[in-house]
Amino acid sequence: MKAFTKTKYGGPEVLQLEEVEKPSLKDEHLLVKVVANSANPADWHILRGEPLLARFAFGLFKPKDKIPGFDFAGIVEEAGNNVKHFKVGDRVFGESSKGGAFARYICVGADVCGLMPEGAGFPQMASVPVAGLTALQALITHGKLNEGESVLINGASGGVGHFAVQIAKAYGAKVTAVCSGKNVDFVKSLGAHQVIAYDKENIHRHEGKYNLIVDAHGNLSHSDFKRMGGRGVVVGFTTMRHMISLSITGRMGKFPLTQFTAQANTKDLEKLALLIQTGKIRVHLEKTYSYKQIPEAISYIEAMRTRGKVAMVWESID
Ligand SMILES: NC(=O)c1ccc[n+]([C@@H]2O[C@H](COP(=O)([O-])OP(=O)(O)OC[C@H]3O[C@@H](n4cnc5c(N)ncnc54)[C@H](OP(=O)(O)O)[C@@H]3O)[C@@H](O)[C@H]2O)c1
Repeated sequence: MKAFTKTKYGGPEVLQLEEVEKPSLKDEHLLVKVVANSANPADWHILRGEPLLARFAFGLFKPKDKIPGFDFAGIVEEAGNNVKHFKVGDRVFGESSKGGAFARYICVGADVCGLMPEGAGFPQMASVPVAGLTALQALITHGKLNEGESVLINGASGGVGHFAVQIAKAYGAKVTAVCSGKNVDFVKSLGAHQVIAYDKENIHRHEGKYNLIVDAHGNLSHSDFKRMGGRGVVVGFTTMRHMISLSITGRMGKFPLTQFTAQANTKDLEKLALLIQTGKIRVHLEKTYSYKQIPEAISYIEAMRTRGKVAMVWESID
């Protein structure tokens, strides 16, 4: 089968499209014919082996896992003996935390897959897992968002942020979103009640008060969280220094601040599928590439200015 592989750390140029062996099925797994992928910041972090500390997990001198990629949507080709929820021919989407998604086939645990909603497209659903699960778990699992509460979402126009705005609205929250001036109309169209353009107003001096703050960009300080919020969830970090500083101040202070890594599971994926099916959230695809251009897609998202998501397609199927 065709797959992108990497044998050393580096930029998207280290990726090679080559023929590799098709993965074989295990009892708890699905063999999925991949129809589309999406790109996430984690793809280029792991490709580059950055931050350096991450190499303890991903391979000290060279990458442990050969095939990159987390997000996929496709069709079940084979289902393992212990799989109950899925059958051959099902349209599924999911996230492989070990990579392996930038390939024609992926063998992946059934517990990190969900059924696609009727009528949904593969590029759209491939764009949901990492970013959608992160938004859902930031707001609901960790943020404990209640109906009628106010939430500030920083970094509201990106992959995670554009889902977070819509999910918060769907759960009955009053949403204030922070993005650049060029994305104000886009974020309003997602349902934000109020939008702050960070290039017009200094968010670090903003005096608004919110029940919950979700930082999907990663530049809010501990004092920003305390000044504006009742509780906070940190999704991303702009620098290692910022990550260390928030971890220390967060542990020492009394402000309820949570940092987390999103976990894929069928229940949450299918919650997102239902929100999509009922029209409560939509996926905004800024760009769609062919699978052959996966390195270009990763290169594009490295600027961290994506509006919504970027998808890559192996095959055009409705
Ligand atoms: N904890 C987890 O499990 C988890 C999971 C997924 C992602 N993440 C992390 O979460 C972060 C966001 O991921 P993503 O996929 O949403 O990335 P993304 O699609 O690249 O979005 C990043 C967004 O940040 C916005 N931004 C840039 N400068 C900003 C500023 N000064 N203030 C506020 N917003 C600003 C950009 O919006 P404008 O163009 O409008 O400026 C862009 O839309 C990344 O750091 C990623 O590594 C964490």
